[in-house]
Amino acid sequence: CLASGNAAAQGAYPNHPISLVVPFAAGGPTDVVARSLGASMSKTLGQSIVVENRTGAGGTLASTHVARAAPDGYTFLIHHNGMATAPALYRKLPFNPLTDFAYVGQVADVPMTLLGRKDLPPADMPAFIKYARENGDKVNLANAGLGAVSQLCGMLLQESLGTQFTTVPYAGTAPALTALLGGQVDVLCDQTTQTIPHIKADRVKLYGVTTLDRIKALPDAPTLQENGLKGFEVKVWHGVYAPKGTPPEAVAKFNAALRAALKDPAFTQKMAELGAEIVPESKQTPEGLQTWLQTEIDKWGGIIRKAGVYAD
Ligand code: MLT
Repeated sequence: CLASGNAAAQGAYPNHPISLVVPFAAGGPTDVVARSLGASMSKTLGQSIVVENRTGAGGTLASTHVARAAPDGYTFLIHHNGMATAPALYRKLPFNPLTDFAYVGQVADVPMTLLGRKDLPPADMPAFIKYARENGDKVNLANAGLGAVSQLCGMLLQESLGTQFTTVPYAGTAPALTALLGGQVDVLCDQTTQTIPHIKADRVKLYGVTTLDRIKALPDAPTLQENGLKGFEVKVWHGVYAPKGTPPEAVAKFNAALRAALKDPAFTQKMAELGAEIVPESKQTPEGLQTWLQTEIDKWGGIIRKAGVYAD
C-alpha cells in the first residue's frame, strides 16, 4: 500500500480494490449514489470500488469505522448531511467530523419527498396536515435512525406541524420504504434517489417535495412550503471522506476520479432521472467539502439543539 513500503515495488496506486463504505442499507438512496458513482470512478482508477454497507446508529457506526480505518488509500466513506448533524445529535460521538478525516469532495444534492402509504386517508398535503394534527402519535413515521436525513426531515415536519408522531427506526430507508409499501408504517420522508420509481409507479402517496422550489424530475409535485409549511427545506448533500492521514497522492487520485465521474453521462444521466443535481466544481474539491461541512455543522447544530433531540 501507499502508506508503507516501496510504492514502486508494489505498483502504482491503486493496485487492488478500494472499499467505499455506505452508512445505510443496500438498495437505499445513499447506496444508489455510491454504487453508480463507484462504477464510474473505477473506470478511471482501473480498480474496482467495492461498496460496503455498514449500518447502525444513524450512520455514525460507518463514520467511526472509517475514521479508525488504516489511512492507506483503500477505505473511503460516502455520507450525507448526517456527518454534520451527528455532533449535535450524539453527546458521545466517537469521532470528530472536522478533525478525523481527509476530505475528497462533494457529489450531488438530492431533494426529499414526503410519502404516505398508498391507503393513508389524506389525499394531499392540506388534508395530511389536518390528519397529522388530529391523529398525532397514532401516525407511524419511519426513519433510518438518529443522524439519517429521514430523521432530520421528520423532526422538522413534526416541529412545523406542532405534533408528535411515533417514530419507527430502520437500518436505512430501503427497509423503511419496504415497510411503507407493505403498510406497516404510515409516513416516510425520503430522498428522490430512491422514491421516484415508486412515485411514478403509483405505489405510494406523494404529499410534496422538501425543496423551496418544485423540481424538474417531479414537476407536478407541490413543495411543502406551497402547502402551508412556509420555508420548509431539507436538501441532501453528499461528501466523500477518507481516514485522516491518507496519503495526499491517493486523495488527489480519488478526487480526480470523482470529478471525472461527475462529468460521466453514465453517472450524470442516472442522477438526473432520480432528481439529483451534480454539485458545482467549487464543491467537488477537498476544500469545497471541508468548508461546506463546517457551515452545515453550524446550521444544523443550532436547529437540533433548539429541537432538543439527542442521544446520550
Ligand atoms: C439511506 O441511504 O438509507 C438514507 O440516506 C437514510 C437516511 O438518511 O434517511
